[in-house]
Amino acid sequence: MFKRVTLTLLGLISCNPSFATEVVNVYSAREEQLIKPLLDAFTQDTGIQVNLITADDDPLLERLKREGANSPADILMTADAGRLYRAAEQGSLQAIQSPKLQQAIPAHLRDPQNRWFGLTYRARVIFYNKATVNPKELSSYENLADPKWQGRICVRSSTSIYNQSLLASMIASKGAAAAETWAKGLVSNLAKPPSGGDRDQIKAVAAGQCDLALANTYYYAQMLYGGDAAQKDAAQKLGIFFPNQAERGTHINISGAAVTASAPNKTNALKLLEYMVLDDAQRWYSSTNGEYPVKANIPAADQLQAWGRFKTDALNLSLLGRYNQAALIIMDKVGWK
Ligand SMILES: [Fe+2]
Repeated sequence: MFKRVTLTLLGLISCNPSFATEVVNVYSAREEQLIKPLLDAFTQDTGIQVNLITADDDPLLERLKREGANSPADILMTADAGRLYRAAEQGSLQAIQSPKLQQAIPAHLRDPQNRWFGLTYRARVIFYNKATVNPKELSSYENLADPKWQGRICVRSSTSIYNQSLLASMIASKGAAAAETWAKGLVSNLAKPPSGGDRDQIKAVAAGQCDLALANTYYYAQMLYGGDAAQKDAAQKLGIFFPNQAERGTHINISGAAVTASAPNKTNALKLLEYMVLDDAQRWYSSTNGEYPVKANIPAADQLQAWGRFKTDALNLSLLGRYNQAALIIMDKVGWK
């Protein structure tokens, strides 16, 4: 007891709050309002103060790389397994042994080397104009290369990690040659040169510029339920279709988290990660983000459940990182701008 008091006093004397208080430093690519309430609850429950820094995904990775061993970050939160794989490969993450995380998160949604963990998942699906497309015409990602869709598809550019990961999943399941043939067919069916983000593709379908779009599920959820009348109006013109149900399942990806290689507060970082997979946290985080919880016993929010159940591709998501380079080469080759 005495020792503890002495340490606390020393902490106060040094005027460095990090000595006086338990902290964890989070670098997050998620918008503050999508994560802050959960971090506040963590602080309330554990007494550990969370210092949150938010920035865009790729600049955060660059920052971690630049800061190296001197980085104050304990946790990286970002989306897409391809990006988390990149962070691991650049030496910014460390392996974490946690039975709680391993038990809560299905194996294909976390790194086999335990350097990153999925917290929620999203699907990259086909959205169609309800006025011009009969969903019976839709089946798989592969089918999007069929000439019947010529000039009718909208998708964002190949610089998006989401598209890189989708193509990487095609490489993993069909091989590079088949993936290239598919990408070539898809590009030849585009209604216009890629521009904008996923929401813009959905809006383009609603505006009649194309009949189909590839986009992530949470964008559609945000447009439908986010309170913006114009976006809601656009999204309501579209139907959602989960491809490849008859075979490997729909391509999914994660938003995830990892403990950084340099983590000065590693124990607290682990506590926060384990907190994120508690039932309540899973429920809150997934519904706030419009995503699906990774934990099998937690149902998705009602709004997502309304779209129906679907089979997800069980591919280990680390393969999306492994085949990222191969995907980039194919995209370049087939002229996916
Ligand atoms: Fe996104």
